[in-house]
Amino acid sequence: MEIRNSQWITVSRPDRDLAPVFRRVFSAARPVESAVLQLTALGVYEAELNGQRVGDFVLAPGWTSYATRLQVQSYDITPLLQGENELRVTVGRGWFRSPMPGWDSLGIREKRFAQPCGLIALLILRFADGSEERIVSDESWQWAEGPIRFSEIYDGETADARITPENWEPVLPLDWSRDCLIPQEGEPIREAERIAARRVFKTPDGDTVVDFGQEVTGWVEFTLEAKAGEEVLFDHAEVLDRNGSWYNENYRGAKAKVRYICRDGRQTWHPRLTFFGFRMIRLISWPGKASPEQFTAVAVHSDLRRTGWLKSGDPLLNRFFSNVVWGQLGNFLDVPTDCPQRDERLGWTGDAEAFVRAAACFYDVERFFRKWLRDLRADQRPDGGVGSVIPDVLPGDQPAAAWGDAAAIVPWEIYQAYGCLDLLADQFDSMVRWVRAIPGYTKTPDLWTDWPQFADWLGLDAPEGSYKGASRENYCASAFYANSLDLAVRTGRLLGRDVSDLETQHARTVAAFRRAFPTCETQTEYVLAIEFGLAEDPQQAADALAEMIRKDGTRLRTGFMGTPRLLHVLSRYGYSSLAWDLLLRREYPGWLYPVTRGATTVWEHWDGIREDSSFWSRDMNSFNHYAYGAVADWVFSRAAGLRHAEDRPGYAELIYAPEPDARIGWLQARLDTRFGPVSAFWSYEEGGIRYDLETPVPALIRLGGEERRVAPGRYTFWTEVGRDCR
Ligand code: BGC
Repeated sequence: MEIRNSQWITVSRPDRDLAPVFRRVFSAARPVESAVLQLTALGVYEAELNGQRVGDFVLAPGWTSYATRLQVQSYDITPLLQGENELRVTVGRGWFRSPMPGWDSLGIREKRFAQPCGLIALLILRFADGSEERIVSDESWQWAEGPIRFSEIYDGETADARITPENWEPVLPLDWSRDCLIPQEGEPIREAERIAARRVFKTPDGDTVVDFGQEVTGWVEFTLEAKAGEEVLFDHAEVLDRNGSWYNENYRGAKAKVRYICRDGRQTWHPRLTFFGFRMIRLISWPGKASPEQFTAVAVHSDLRRTGWLKSGDPLLNRFFSNVVWGQLGNFLDVPTDCPQRDERLGWTGDAEAFVRAAACFYDVERFFRKWLRDLRADQRPDGGVGSVIPDVLPGDQPAAAWGDAAAIVPWEIYQAYGCLDLLADQFDSMVRWVRAIPGYTKTPDLWTDWPQFADWLGLDAPEGSYKGASRENYCASAFYANSLDLAVRTGRLLGRDVSDLETQHARTVAAFRRAFPTCETQTEYVLAIEFGLAEDPQQAADALAEMIRKDGTRLRTGFMGTPRLLHVLSRYGYSSLAWDLLLRREYPGWLYPVTRGATTVWEHWDGIREDSSFWSRDMNSFNHYAYGAVADWVFSRAAGLRHAEDRPGYAELIYAPEPDARIGWLQARLDTRFGPVSAFWSYEEGGIRYDLETPVPALIRLGGEERRVAPGRYTFWTEVGRDCR
């Protein structure tokens, strides 16, 4: 990349908090045909040319494994050019220089603070006369203090609108790698949905709260009339406590505050170099009386193309579908994150592997995950181990089952959704390195045992005081190991590679697993045994699972490992109706319980807010954690019945096998596949169930116990109520 010939530059007086403004003045004396600006920073930046915003990418350059992969953005700035020009770039700490308040115990704060603020740029001017000029970042640039006095991902932003940059000082050259520079890979992050404030009200404690009625990730834009020096100060929250009082202790170490010092007159502002996960804000300081029209919540996320829609005859279920979509948007901000609000917001691999299938239904996430998987590959340890977060920013973190297995599961699922064999080819070595690392972590050959694990994280059968469900750690880890071996073998075969040693290892692991774990003790253990092909008699295991669930009062007890797979396993072995029982349960625990409590995104815990309105915990209680939204892929593939033929990934050929349930009356699903839109609808009507299918590809129809093949087209079918529709 040509930008590698430019110079990294930095400020002459480093300051932890300040977001400095860099500038370059230049003239375009001759008529310009085109002008392209390439730019990136150590931190996050916003650029303007002659006072106009350059591009609409927010929080650029996004988040990657910066040491080896730093994305460069390219902007066509031709329309913004004048004769005399001033380019300004404000650079905040962003992810790069965040002290990561949630991880103080790792002792990384000072080291992260010590990272420099930097900028590198290349401007290519092409003149009408055919000549070209290149302006590079170098010591001819200047910097000054600007209005953003403080900016940080977790703690928020402070801006002083009275300050305009002046006293320009020379920049310093910065010695920093240019080998890490890569072209933009992911979708840009953009401002998207705008939500007007619903109401402004006072809590019983006298706090003034603005409620947007929807949890989003992004920021609040506000407008007010004020005098210079007056202060706006607010913090963020997702929920109120049981008394209706302000509550954001669950943000833990993230201060999530916005402070703005006004200039004179009418003004509109929003933070720009940070983001928040929130549904409401508390006005700690606000000049005058606040009214709803003054506030808009602006959602900020990777600009993904919507590809999937679900709608049913059950309003609660529809709200849940909407919550899953909002959960995805709120956590797909360049990296798939666990949650957008507290002091984490990290690319937890276990959360991504749980949700990836559902993610690929609602949005086109091929490019998004392609980029993230390259970071995963880049951050893979020398022994092949994969960290629990990607980008891998937690020193000392040990690879764990299900989390590290994202190296195999995520590429496989993206391939299933889009049929992109080249992505599998890109990731194959990474997959293989991961499965080859595991023998270095185990005490028992062929299995994965005696290693620190997150286990069936948040399983409801967890012993008091533990986050880890009761499923045996060695069992779960070994099951995921077997599954990743299986996926590596299948991938290798598709790519025509010799995977005989992995095949042998897979067979040995399955045999060792069956010897070591002849029985299943928990719901999740059954689910994994069936889903990963480890149960010798899967039907018998599914029967036992169904019985266990019924004995548990038709309640799920599964955590991160079991939950995304639970309904699939039930459906596959004839327990569709039990799967529906679990999905439609309105009481705790179940997907719809949070909806009855007013959830607008998916919760981390089934009982984030308990039946008595108390919180389950203050330190692990996110109200926007997408993982359990994974069940939406069951709704697309089983309930609505849309899935691709096993050997035709990317929906090159369809299997249509809906599993209707009278309790919701009707269900409509639409998927925009690479081959065109597929839509499916069923509805309980007088005398039977009506099915409408529109398919752009050949389909195998399984309805009423019969199978038939159809060509692309629109079809309507009927079955009698009560007949087996699988
Ligand atoms: C995160 C999870 C994550 C987990 C690892 C949590 O703090 O929020 O979603 O996967 O740690 O166990």
